[in-house]
Amino acid sequence: MTKPKVVLGVSGGIAAYKACELLRRLTESGHEVRVVPTEAALHFVGAATWAALSGQPVSTEVWESVHEVPHVRLGQEADLVVVAPATTDLLAKAAHGLADDLLTNTLLTARCPVVLAPAMHTEMWEHAATQENVATLRRRGVHVIEPASGRLTGADTGKGRFPDPAEIFAYCRQVLARPDAPRDLGGRHVLVSAGGTREALDPVRFLGNRSSGKQGYALARAAAARGARVTLVAANTALAAPAGVDVVPVSSTAELREALLAAAPEADAVVMAAAVADFRPATYAPGKIKKKDGAEPEPLALVRNPDILAELSAHRARAGQVVVGFAAETDDVLAHGRAKLARKGCDLLVVNEVGETKTFGAESSEAVVLGADGSETPVPYGPKEGLAHTVWDLVAARLG
Ligand SMILES: Cc1cc2nc3c(=O)[nH]c(=O)nc-3n(C[C@H](O)[C@H](O)[C@H](O)COP(=O)(O)O)c2cc1C
Repeated sequence: MTKPKVVLGVSGGIAAYKACELLRRLTESGHEVRVVPTEAALHFVGAATWAALSGQPVSTEVWESVHEVPHVRLGQEADLVVVAPATTDLLAKAAHGLADDLLTNTLLTARCPVVLAPAMHTEMWEHAATQENVATLRRRGVHVIEPASGRLTGADTGKGRFPDPAEIFAYCRQVLARPDAPRDLGGRHVLVSAGGTREALDPVRFLGNRSSGKQGYALARAAAARGARVTLVAANTALAAPAGVDVVPVSSTAELREALLAAAPEADAVVMAAAVADFRPATYAPGKIKKKDGAEPEPLALVRNPDILAELSAHRARAGQVVVGFAAETDDVLAHGRAKLARKGCDLLVVNEVGETKTFGAESSEAVVLGADGSETPVPYGPKEGLAHTVWDLVAARLG
């Protein structure tokens, strides 16, 4: 089997060193990678590093190995072109079709998917010129990953940070696996919840559940790859933020509800993959609950939590909003699922069977997606990404 060919463009941003990890992940997972840095990128990481890590020659301009016409061939032969980091300058050149070095020539000759991972200071990212260039590129079908928020080059923080290289790699894998996948969520805003809520008993103890958040993160990743703006409300997860996704961390059901209700008015679709506690302790002890000598513990009194899925379904924050729930059941899964779909009033319900190690924390799962219209879509056992794409197929069809 021939290895998929990837061109890794690197432009002159401080995050160029992080592209070394992306390169390693690409080569170690069986891709043939040709690194094409810009002249400016070589101020940050030298050509020797790129050549040694990729095992391929490295050049920045079109005047080397001219007999091989690399300025045309590299783009034509690539299965994927990813530029990481993409400077504000590179975005401008790509949007305007400039071709004054090997990377910009490659971007014009590529007919494969193109992924750009911008990284820059917040002011540069927010500048109208940059935003218009990004909009132009997205309109043409280029994947422009939304930068993360956090620590920038100096002591300052804000939007413009290079996403986790492992997550850019995951994004590239998605695009390579489905190169012709529709970008059917372009221009849409989707809201996803993930993880499991914790209900505090005292400052050190809580009632929780086994949800890892992997399914919700897979949903967020898949939606981003399909062009959506994604807000991910994450309850107690220990996972890296998916590239291009805005993550809102929460802990309790009350916090999860508040974050979802705040974001829902802007969302075209809401997918509730988080495992939410039905009950919480009736009281919260401000100090650690102590063991009393010889005495049995007090019985634990619980009260109901608000039903967030039913609330979001009943009071749609905007017309045509699609609401999707998840039902984790241990027995009689489909019957419980159908009853839950009717009770909650959502459009789709993903029903899966859970156990101590089944589904929770696992990389794969199987499920049936029930529709309020009576449809049933079985999803065979496989990676959680597959189920995520099926959910988005069904949501996209409902969004029209
Ligand atoms: C220390 C330093 C860090 C920089 N970091 C960034 C950055 O993160 N993002 C960016 O867009 N430009 C950054 N720049 C500016 C670019 O290097 C400059 O715009 C350059 O012309 C980009 O060239 P290129 O797009 O051909 O790589 C930085 C410059 C310096 C000196």
